[in-house]
Amino acid sequence: MFKRVIITSGPTIEPIDPVRFLSNRSSGKTGYHLANEAAKRNIPEILFITGPTHYKPPGVTFIPVETALQMREQLLKYYKIADVIIMAAAVCDYRITRYFTKKIKKNDDKLVLEFTRNPDLLMETGKNKTGNQLLVGFAAETHNILKNAGKKFQKKNLDLLVLNEISAENPAFNAEENQVYLVTAEGTRKLEKMEKSLLAARIWDEIYNMAKIKKLK
Ligand code: CTP
Repeated sequence: MFKRVIITSGPTIEPIDPVRFLSNRSSGKTGYHLANEAAKRNIPEILFITGPTHYKPPGVTFIPVETALQMREQLLKYYKIADVIIMAAAVCDYRITRYFTKKIKKNDDKLVLEFTRNPDLLMETGKNKTGNQLLVGFAAETHNILKNAGKKFQKKNLDLLVLNEISAENPAFNAEENQVYLVTAEGTRKLEKMEKSLLAARIWDEIYNMAKIKKLK
């Protein structure tokens, strides 16, 4: 049914000077399982655009990047030809305003750095997607989770939002299991806590169902 899909995965890293960077705790496990599941379903071309990760799914076109801007460049190259775009990457919201070409030496007791907002790749893709494409985004919320997720779903023009409620019981990042809500135009469903590989299968089931409803292909 689907010919080409894009999955963004892993963290991005934003260099500060030649030896330091800003990043986050994403392992890339969710994106890895989503790519594996796509391969199991015999999707012919899986473009896997990923920040630095140990998780390398077999059978994909592996497109490694480091920064949010590099990820954006690769997305812009390929998003038009994809039937499904799943954006599971934990993109850094900020990058250093002025990269230090020489290593920052310790001088004072305090160091103040200035960061600039990175573009929201999911929002950009949502703005530009066509009626024949399905766009899946992720959200991590700690409070007012359903209200915030509903707003994001609308604002970013998504077909499916996978919502992580981040709490002590569900750390989500780097964990083996995850408990999420699936937000679609039809409403919101809470899924039971499950292994990330199983969750990837559930997300793909949902995508195939949506494609059927929308009569894509
Ligand atoms: N995302 C993106 N580009 C960014 C930041 C996030 O494409 N610069 C995408 C991620 O791939 C993921 C979703 O947006 O699909 C994550 O959203 P969330 O973690 O909820 O963060 P924000 O949408 O930035 O909202 P907030 O920081 O206000 O919670």
